[in-house]
Amino acid sequence: VVKPKVKWLGTPINDLKRMPECGGLLPPLRNVPGLFGFHTDVCLLIGNVSVAYPAKFKDTWDDVHVKMPCSSWNLFPVQDEVMVQLSVKEKLIRTFAFCGKTTHINRSLALSKVLDPDDAEHLFGSLLPDMVQLALRASELCTKPIPLLKRGMNHSITMSQEQVACLLANAFFCTFPRRNSRRNEYGNYPDINFFRLFEGSSPKKIEKLKTLMCYFKSVTEQKPSGLVTFTRKSLDKPLNWKSSQTRLTKLHITCEGTIEDDGYGMLQVDFANKFVGGGVTSSGLVQEEIRFLINPELIVSRLFTEALDHNECVIITGTQQYSTYTGYAQTYQWDGSHQDTTPRDGWQRRCTEIVAIDALQFKNFLEQFKPEKLNRELNKAYCGFARSEQRSQHLAAVATGNWGCGVFGGDARLKALLQMLAAAEAGRDVAYFTFGDSQLMTDVHEMHSFLTESEIGVGEVYDLLRQYNSSVCRSCLSRRPDVSLYSFIYQQVSSSLAPDDSDGGSARH
Ligand code: AR6
Repeated sequence: VVKPKVKWLGTPINDLKRMPECGGLLPPLRNVPGLFGFHTDVCLLIGNVSVAYPAKFKDTWDDVHVKMPCSSWNLFPVQDEVMVQLSVKEKLIRTFAFCGKTTHINRSLALSKVLDPDDAEHLFGSLLPDMVQLALRASELCTKPIPLLKRGMNHSITMSQEQVACLLANAFFCTFPRRNSRRNEYGNYPDINFFRLFEGSSPKKIEKLKTLMCYFKSVTEQKPSGLVTFTRKSLDKPLNWKSSQTRLTKLHITCEGTIEDDGYGMLQVDFANKFVGGGVTSSGLVQEEIRFLINPELIVSRLFTEALDHNECVIITGTQQYSTYTGYAQTYQWDGSHQDTTPRDGWQRRCTEIVAIDALQFKNFLEQFKPEKLNRELNKAYCGFARSEQRSQHLAAVATGNWGCGVFGGDARLKALLQMLAAAEAGRDVAYFTFGDSQLMTDVHEMHSFLTESEIGVGEVYDLLRQYNSSVCRSCLSRRPDVSLYSFIYQQVSSSLAPDDSDGGSARH
C-alpha cells in the first residue's frame, strides 16, 4: 500500500486570515500623510486616477527628492564640455544611447532573435514607441517631487499605477540622472536604470526582458487605474525577547505552492537584499528578483529607497502581477501574461501586501546562532510583521518560507523558529512554504506542535536558542554543530520537565 503523500500539516490554510476579508476600515485617502502626486479628491473615482496634482510640474533638484529626467537642471555636455539643457526627447535619446552604448541595446533587443517575426515587428513598430511616449509624459504625470525614503525615515509614498508605469519606462530607457554609476550621491541606493539588463545576451536576461516587456505591453495597451503605496518603516526600539510571555500563533506548513500563488491576501515576505530588489536590474534571479519581475511595480521602490538598515523594512501595497513564470534561477522562464483579479481596497490598491526584509548573509554556519545575530533577525522580521496601529483581529497571516536560507546561507530550521516568534509577537498566524522540502515541513510542524502543547512561549524559545549557542555552538570545533538545534530543544525541555533532574537544569513551573 502506498501511503498518500502528505502535502501540508498544521492548521488548514483556509483557517488563516487574508485581506480584504480580515481588514479594518481604511482612513479616507485625503487625510493620509505622504500622499504623492495627484489630487486626492479625484483619485478615488475609478478610471480618473491620472489627474496629476499639482497640475504643473514642480521642478526640484535637491538631495531629498528624486532627480527627474525632465528637470531643467538635468544638463548634458555638448562640444567643448559646455553643459546645455536639451529637450526631453533629445535627453531621452542621448541617455539611452549613452547607457546602452547602442550596440548593447541592439544586441539585447536581439530579443528580436528569440522573438518570432510578428513579435519583433510589434516590439519595434509599436511597443517601444509607446514606451517612449509613456516615458516622455513624466513632467505631465509626475508633477509633484518624489521624496527619497532615506535611512531612518518612517514615510509613505502613494502613487498611481500609471505614474509607476511612466517612471519604469524612464528606468527602461535609463533616463534617471546621476543613476548610471554608484560612485556618486546615490551610492547607497539600488540601481534604477536598466542598463545592466542590456549587457550581454545570457538566456536569463532574455527571460527577464520578456517578463518586463509583458508588463510594458500591458500598461501601454490598457492604462492601469489603481494606486500603490510604498512605506519605509523602522523599529524605534528593539524588543525584549527574553521577557516575552506571548504564546505561538497558528502555523500552516506545506511543501507545495508558493508565497505569491497560495499566500494571496496574506502579508507576503520578500526575501530581500538591503538594496531592495537585489539583482533585478542586473543578473539576480531568485525569490526577490522573480517577484519584482512578475510584479514590476515593485521595481519603482529602487528609485527612492536608500539601503535598509538592520531595524528597517519596506512595505509595498497594491502591486499587480502581470506575468507567470516556470523554473527558478538558471531555469527561470517567462510563461506568459497574467490577469490579476485580486480585489482592490478602499484606496483602489490591489490587496497584495509585500514586505521587503533582508536577512543577514552567513558564510560561517555557526555565526547565525550568536545572540546579536538572533536579535537582529528577530527584530528585522518583527519590524516587517508588526502593525502597532492595527488590532490583531484585522491582521492577515504572514506568508513566508526559507527566508535567508538560499543565497544567504541561513539554516531554515532556525529561521522558521525566528519567524514564528516574530509573527507571534506581531499577533499574526504563519503560512510557511518549504518550496518542495517535505522533511523541513515535518520537522517544523513537529517543533511547532511540541512548543504549543508544552505551552512554551516566545521568551522561553528565545532562551533555548541562547542556551543552544552557549552550550553547543560556542564550544563547537567543526563547521557544523554536532547536536542539531531541534534535538537540543527537545532534550532541554524534556529534561527540565522530568521530575528527577540530575543535570541540574531548573524545573519548569
Ligand atoms: N515561494 C516560497 N519559497 C520560495 C520561493 C517562492 N516563490 N522562491 C524561493 N523560495 P533566496 P535569501 C525558497 O535565495 O537566501 C536575492 O538576490 C527557496 O527554498 O531568494 O534570503 C536577494 O536580492 C529558496 O532557496 O533568499 C538577496 O540578495 C529560499 O526560499 C538574496 O537573494 C530562499 O530564497 C537573498 O537570499
